[in-house]
Amino acid sequence: MGSAVGKAFILLIVLVTLFLWVGSAITKMTGGEKKGGGVVEITPEGGESIFWGKGRCYTCHSIGDRGSAVRCPNLSLWGDKFPLPIGQRAAERAKEREKATGLPYTANDYLIESLANPSAYLVEGFKNEMAVVYAPPISLTLNEIKAVIVYLQSQGGEVNVDAVNNPGEISKKFFDRIAAASAAGGGDPAHGEEIFVGGGCADCHTLDGTGSPFGPDLSKIGLKGAKHIQESILQPAASFTPGYETYTVIKKDGKEMFNESGKKYSGLKIKEDNENIEIAIGAGQILKAPKSDIKELVLEKNKSLMPDELVEVLTVKDFQDVVAFMLLQKKP
Ligand code: HEC
Ligand code: HEC
Repeated sequence: MGSAVGKAFILLIVLVTLFLWVGSAITKMTGGEKKGGGVVEITPEGGESIFWGKGRCYTCHSIGDRGSAVRCPNLSLWGDKFPLPIGQRAAERAKEREKATGLPYTANDYLIESLANPSAYLVEGFKNEMAVVYAPPISLTLNEIKAVIVYLQSQGGEVNVDAVNNPGEISKKFFDRIAAASAAGGGDPAHGEEIFVGGGCADCHTLDGTGSPFGPDLSKIGLKGAKHIQESILQPAASFTPGYETYTVIKKDGKEMFNESGKKYSGLKIKEDNENIEIAIGAGQILKAPKSDIKELVLEKNKSLMPDELVEVLTVKDFQDVVAFMLLQKKP
């Protein structure tokens, strides 16, 4: 009896071992291990698979005679125009960046910048047409970008994974930019800035002292996180920035107050003394009313002075881009 149980037990062990072995062999054969959860290894091989795959770099760049794209810089040796592969070329470019910015650029900083902020430096003879690879539709993650950088290093340069994982100050800022963009669903902060300035936000908000001081200053808004920023734009009246609540003025006859053009007015209460109440109805537009005319000042809980039709004007991409730009505003 005892030995029968023993035999069954041994058989069970053999079966379980066989099962695990077959499972791991299949995983290896299909490359399932690497793909699991979209995790990429920060190695030249990991970066190579991104470069020639999801990153779509190959649609614009060739590497030496690998690839067929010719309209963008070759990233290895190519004629007189590219006498150095990108792993070495980056060190030359870094010197130019150092001159232009006064900051101590390393070759790595240049490589990272070329992906994080491609318009900062344009290769002579080429246009500002490099894709923002961490924004839709490519949407590389931070780790995928790190892997690509290591792959670029491996093109004639020294592979230094540590420099990518523990970057200096210049590159850290670039990585923050990419992380912010990913957190915002993959947005392009440079385009977000254009939206902010050209799309009306700067008509009511200040950033680092420029813009209009009607709405709250947004120089530190990044500290409040993506969720708060998204909600503030999607549903302004869901929560008010303290001090920026909406008031409507009601006259003694029970009617709302009207401005010169005959429109009823609501706005931010910017001043109240014994005689008057001052309401800002827009940037630089302040209406003063004598208290003797006013019956009450009604606090509007469901109406923000931040327009809620903004979302209808913005495309989904513009929205993500502007959120990514907002996330970067973290002035100390
Ligand atoms: C839509 C086309 C396009 C795609 C996609 C693209 N690039 Fe570029 N890239 C360019 C153009 C154009 C330039 C030259 C202008 C510039 O310097 O920004 C450039 C410049 C570069 C440079 C600087 C080269 C030098 O000589 O200094 C690097 C590095 C680079 N790209 C890497 C990548 C990588 C890695 C990817 C994929 C993750 C990628 N690019 C995807 C168009 C593209
Ligand atoms: C007509 C003026 C106006 C315009 C245009 C406007 N805002 Fe606002 N915004 C306000 C006001 C007033 C508030 C404060 C009231 C509130 O919290 O709803 C506010 C609040 C915010 C907040 C929350 C601030 C905080 O401290 O939490 C964010 C973020 C914001 N706006 C972003 C934007 C963006 C991005 C745009 C452009 C797409 C924009 N705003 C356009 C007036 C405006």
